[in-house]
Amino acid sequence: VRRVIGIDLGGTETKIGIVEEDGKIVEKKVIPTRVSEGRTTVVTRIGEAINELLVQSGIDSKQIIGIGVGSPGSIDHDTGTVLFSPNLPDWSGFGLAAMLERVTGIRTFVENDANSFILGEWAFGEFKGSQHMVGLTLGTGVGGGVITHGILMTGSKGYGGELGHTIVEPEGPVCGCGSHGCLEALASATAIINLAREYSKRFPQSTIFASPEINAKVVFDAAREGDLAATLIVERATRALAIAIGNFIHVFNPEHIVIGGGISRAGDLLINGIREKLPAFVMTSFNGTFSITLSKLVENAGITGAASIVFYRTS
Ligand code: BGC
Ligand code: NA
Ligand code: ZN
Repeated sequence: VRRVIGIDLGGTETKIGIVEEDGKIVEKKVIPTRVSEGRTTVVTRIGEAINELLVQSGIDSKQIIGIGVGSPGSIDHDTGTVLFSPNLPDWSGFGLAAMLERVTGIRTFVENDANSFILGEWAFGEFKGSQHMVGLTLGTGVGGGVITHGILMTGSKGYGGELGHTIVEPEGPVCGCGSHGCLEALASATAIINLAREYSKRFPQSTIFASPEINAKVVFDAAREGDLAATLIVERATRALAIAIGNFIHVFNPEHIVIGGGISRAGDLLINGIREKLPAFVMTSFNGTFSITLSKLVENAGITGAASIVFYRTS
């Protein structure tokens, strides 16, 4: 069996796993990323975790054909350099693949995290093998990935597919990238927390503010209980998603739109909210041409997606 290491590099957590060609995770580990300690320390710690995983599973590093890293931001896919990452501010210009290769001695490929996600869906997900798919990851940021005609759409350098920075409210809240009203500024976990803060002035009595910590789950749970402020926030986020997805449908004519990331745990509330609003933003000729669903790979989607980068690039 061909084995690789998949690394899902996130702003708060990094998930690392040894993955086989059929998507099976042999062994995995989650470590805190601790971005504030500097990128060199982060990579050194990842190297240590890889070693531990190999020892635990009794696999020699020579049996690993490559490491795949899914990283947020614009990634130069030829060199594995992180060019710009709104949610990893100090990583600009970082030669991530080169450093990880030095630390581990294993050939390393870096790809945008959401591009990795859709590659993973394509290799291992519910619609495995579909030639036309759009993926969105809703987490700290909003990522996008596109498979078109059976290839990963990357653009010339690899920066393509930044679907999260599609503008859906030009006068809307500021985004981490500096623009206003990006999908990410309305439908990411960060956005939902910011919207909650903004709505606290108008709705101080909302149950959201009774919670010791405001996070996306608190907001979705409150909306499910009928809380007005929470409902307005969820409506705004799902409307932003419907507008953006409507545009993606017109551009890519996908068979499947798959949504992943932490926010997708909101389940029905999220997917039904999008499905209800979508027809208003899609030409009727596209009716019945696509499905829109939540990823079934759940918390392993990041690791298996990152692993699929290696299989994709070496096949
Ligand atoms: C970044 C993307 C990334 C997404 C999810 C966005 O802010 O621009 O590159 O895919 O967050 O991490
Ligand atoms: Na992308
Ligand atoms: Zn943006």
